[in-house]
Amino acid sequence: MKMVVTQKIMPPWFADPQYGHFANERSLSADEIRTLVGWVNGGAQKGAAQDMPPVKEDFVEGWGIPAPDAVLRLPKPFSVPAAGVIDYQYAIVPTGFTEDKWVQMLEVRPTDRAVVHHIIAYLRERGSNYFKDQKPGVFFTAPPPKADEKTDTSALPSDFLVGYAPGQPAEILHPGEGKLIKAGSDIVFEVHYTPNGKPTTDQTRLGLVFAKTPPKERVLTLSASNGTFKIPPGDPNYKVDATFEVRKDVRLVALHPHMHARGKSFEYRLEFPDGKKETILSVPVYNWHWQLWYNLTDPIDLPQGTKIECTAHFDNSASNPENPDPSKSVIWGQQSWDEMMVGFFNLKFDAKMSPNELKAVEGAVHVH
Ligand code: HEM
Repeated sequence: MKMVVTQKIMPPWFADPQYGHFANERSLSADEIRTLVGWVNGGAQKGAAQDMPPVKEDFVEGWGIPAPDAVLRLPKPFSVPAAGVIDYQYAIVPTGFTEDKWVQMLEVRPTDRAVVHHIIAYLRERGSNYFKDQKPGVFFTAPPPKADEKTDTSALPSDFLVGYAPGQPAEILHPGEGKLIKAGSDIVFEVHYTPNGKPTTDQTRLGLVFAKTPPKERVLTLSASNGTFKIPPGDPNYKVDATFEVRKDVRLVALHPHMHARGKSFEYRLEFPDGKKETILSVPVYNWHWQLWYNLTDPIDLPQGTKIECTAHFDNSASNPENPDPSKSVIWGQQSWDEMMVGFFNLKFDAKMSPNELKAVEGAVHVH
């Protein structure tokens, strides 16, 4: 503990403190580090019983949210073999909702987290073209993007409901905010299994806590991303940019940079319509093992026309200890030895507004 707190490996938090204030910031102050180190140096003694904080009792077994109002799960347990590479597994699960539901808390989690690299629960509204001809209730894999395909990933309409990766807590919105699941929608589960030597099964599930009253504000996860890069072999500092322009007055509430093993640094900047620029998050030393959300303490007003600009750097050199193969040029792909460049963010806006009004690029495709 002394080692990890003094080297700031723990608690995991990577934002440069110069920029932005985050409600879920969890780094320790110098004082707190001193207290912990002092305690370790003193032999890690147990303190007085009466000083012990009360044991948390409001846990719901198996969840990081209160008892869910609805639970949707993979159609059946997925058999994960002992070894091998498994393509992302998808399954479409109808919600069965006959009316629109506002959701305030969401959590997707594995039943065997030892073999689950990540999960994304996407939303597929009635009439969507997303996996249009795919039948629900079975596992399937998506065709990989073609090597020379220009992947425009400025994904709208977005259908990202909630994700899971180790260390990423449940999504708990403030009272008065909600994500909308329209009547008749399906959940599209995407699960990345990574075998670990023992055969097992997993039946990932999604828990939803409904908003008690209809929210005034809708939260939507969107992203600025770029799927057109080709990182040369050995390049220690390859830059990739992505931009998203908002087409309505909205508010920005949270940020989530996403890259893989060669991810080196990530920055979010805003360019306002009046030309003013502001850096809102800088992750100077990116650690891909921690797929963190950075929740802004105070939402930022984004007037129509504001650009959310993201800059990523990748280290494809041999001096990146995470690099699976510095001799390869690297393009967008799903596996960890491929790369991604996605600046996810949560926007919040009037619950009555349609997200189509935010649409930045007509006909934009998404690649997950
Ligand atoms: C003061 C707060 C914390 C302390 C003192 C602490 C301490 C530690 C220690 C001693 C280890 C083992 C390191 C090693 O084996 O080299 C560790 C690993 C780990 N901690 Fe923490 N931790 C803290 C906060 C957190 C938080 C907030 C999270 C999750 C959000 C977390 C998640 C983990 C995980 C997943 C590992 C395993 C990492 C790996 O094996 O690579 N820790 N922590």
